[in-house]
This record gives sequence, structure tokens and C-alpha cells, in this order.
Amino acid sequence: MYINGPQSTKSLMKFWRSMKRHINFISCDNIAYLAAFLMNQAVFQAMPSIYNKTPLLKQIFNHATSAQVFVKYECLQPSGSFKSRGIGHLISKRAKDIQGDGRKSPHVFSSSGGNAGYAAAVAAQKLNLPCTVVIPTTTKQRMADKIRGCGANVVVQGSHWKEADSHLKNILQNQVNMAILEPIYVHPFDNPTIWEGHASIVDEIISSLKNENTALNRVKGIVCSVGGGGLYNGIIQGLEKYNLANKIPLLAVETKGCHVLNTSLQVGQCVEFNKMNSVATSLCTSQISSRTLDYVQKYGSKSIVLEDKEVLQTCLKYAENFNMITEPACGASLHLGYHPQLIERALGKNLDKDDVIIVIACGGSSNTILDLEESLAKLEEAPHLSIRRNATPSLEHENIIYPKRAQVAS
Ligand SMILES: Cc1ncc(COP(=O)(O)O)c(C=O)c1O
Repeated sequence: MYINGPQSTKSLMKFWRSMKRHINFISCDNIAYLAAFLMNQAVFQAMPSIYNKTPLLKQIFNHATSAQVFVKYECLQPSGSFKSRGIGHLISKRAKDIQGDGRKSPHVFSSSGGNAGYAAAVAAQKLNLPCTVVIPTTTKQRMADKIRGCGANVVVQGSHWKEADSHLKNILQNQVNMAILEPIYVHPFDNPTIWEGHASIVDEIISSLKNENTALNRVKGIVCSVGGGGLYNGIIQGLEKYNLANKIPLLAVETKGCHVLNTSLQVGQCVEFNKMNSVATSLCTSQISSRTLDYVQKYGSKSIVLEDKEVLQTCLKYAENFNMITEPACGASLHLGYHPQLIERALGKNLDKDDVIIVIACGGSSNTILDLEESLAKLEEAPHLSIRRNATPSLEHENIIYPKRAQVAS
């Protein structure tokens, strides 16, 4: 039994009753209730926090900027990215249910060599749960070492995420002894419980703004990066809770080469990319969740696509200005902090000095400053990849798998 086992008194009662079947000398329900209550208190206090409350700080990116830019520092999460929120929430919620039932022990399974796999390993370590992470061969050694460093079992399989994921689901998960173990499958982004966890970001933003006496109606936009859309979905759901999803627009940022949301919007249906090509590897997800497209259409979120080169330049500038190294996935959002004119263009209006823009610094642990410099140097050696501002990404047909009967808007 794990110390962070059954959480609620009710589930402890259930657990206790199941124990009673084996321990015949206890018969009094009152004693069981008292014991369950005491255990619950002890367990509740022993429960480690799965994610951090992060600061929302006003930052000066560019003295000439119109609006005030606040950064939500998700890079300060235990795993270095926002993934700790949703993935931590999923793992702890499922573990509580399984342990509450009392018949099996949870085992965490993740198929991401990126920040999602690392977040799963960090959460599992905090909760003292066994964890297996299947990573594709493309995963950087640094990430594999970080995941292993949390005590997770790392299995290298497949040349990309889908192959790693199917090895995990079809082979590894089926090999566990189902009589005593219950797998907790952790998708990198496509799970409503993950979005529920990410939504806590909005609770914190609202409470930080309140503490700063910043009225919510001054917030003119929230900028977030989009890979599969889990972070975006969480923010929308967080805003919905406060009836703000119609009032505060989201600016969804992608990089060219993995602009799946932007393409899906142009096509009007979720498409799949069969090839990903961007330095923002954490955004290189071949499909977005269908809920993401629904929300973008429902709430009129703005889609922005940036070139790799400008994002790398921003990452390096940000490291110099703020002494923090970010992944390009995060640099894509920070780029808008330096370039509010892109926000104004997307929103279709000018911003005022009292207006507030919130940029989610989603974090990421996969690169060093040397990686950023080398990637930029490579792009600079290839002048044909130079920045083409204002360019609307084309619908590169050979790279896109259209859903059946989807019509490409001309
Ligand atoms: C650092 C970072 N930012 C943004 C994203 C995109 O998140 P989502 O897939 O939830 O859209 C990821 C995904 O792995 C990430 O690792």
C-alpha cells in the first residue's frame, strides 16, 4: 500500500471494508470509520503538491510597447513546464481512485520523450508510483536522462511518438499483471482530465490580477503555444468557469512546419501532418485534439504562425534579457511579448498602455543555449529559410492528410 493511498474518508471506508474481509477480528464500523478518518488526515497531510503555483509578473520586453505584458512563469513547474499541472492532476486523480478501491496498485505509463513524459515521471516520483516511459529514438539523450533520473523505467521504441505510443498501449501495458496492477495511461495532451488540471492556470491568473488590483476587463488577450492543444483547451475551460471565454481572446501560436491548428482552421476540419519540420519540437504534434478546433471556432481565438528563425532569435534575446533558457515552443509565445504589433494585427485593433496581455511561458526542459545557437546558425546558413513576415502558411498538400470528404477552402 502506498502512503498516498485512499484520499477521501468514503474511499478509505471502502478500502477498510475490503481489508476487513481479510481481517476478521474487526467488526465495528465505528472503529473502521475512526481509523479511516485518522488515516485520511494523515494521508492528506502527506500528499505532496503535484504542481506549483507560478508567478504572474509584469515584464518590460520592449520599452516602445503599447500594452502591459504579464508573463505566467510555467517554466517554474516541478518538471519545467505547464505539463505538470494537467498530467500531475490526471495521475494523482487516477491513483487516488485506484488506491481508494484498494484492490490494485497504480502503474504510470507515458509515451512521450518530451515534456509530457518528463512531467509524468516527476509526478510519479512525487507520488511514489512506479512509472514506465516509452520514448522514440529521436528523443534527446538529455531528456531520457532526466526521465530516468526520476526513477522511471525508460524504454526506447519506435522512430516517432505514434510508434512509441502503440508499443506502450499494445505491448507493455498488456504485460502487466492485471490482477494486482492498474495502468494509468498518460496521453501527452488529449484527455479532459489533463485539461481540467491545466485550467488551474486561469484560477491563479485571476487571483494574481486581483492581488495586483488589475481589473479583468483590462486583459485584452492571453497568448499560448499550441502543439496538440491541451494547454489551449485547459485555458479555455478555465476561462469558461469565470464566464470569460467570450470576453478574453486567446492567441494560439504555432511555428511553421507544425502549424496543424492553423491548417485545420483553413480547411475547416482537423487535418493530420505526415511530416513535421520545426525547431519547436515540443509543438510538433501531427494532430490537434478535435476539441481545440471546436473551441477556436466557437470563441474566435486567433491563430498566429511564426517562422523558426524569429522564434530562435527571441529565445536567445530572452536568455540575454531575463537569464532564462526557454524551448522554442515557449519562445514562440514570448515572441509576441517583444512584438505587440503582431498581437494588434491578430486582434484587429490597437492596444492602449493600460491594456494587459498575458503570455504563458509554457517552459520546456529539452534544450541548452548551445542548442538554440546551433539551430539558429543552421538556419542562417540557409538563406531560403529567411523570415517572411505576413506570409500566410500555404496548405502544403503533400504534407497534409485530409480527413475523408474534407474540402480545402480556396
Ligand atoms: C513546452 C511546451 N509548450 C507547449 C506545448 C504544447 O502543448 P499542447 O500539446 O498541450 O498544445 C508543449 C507540448 O509538449 C510543450 O512541451
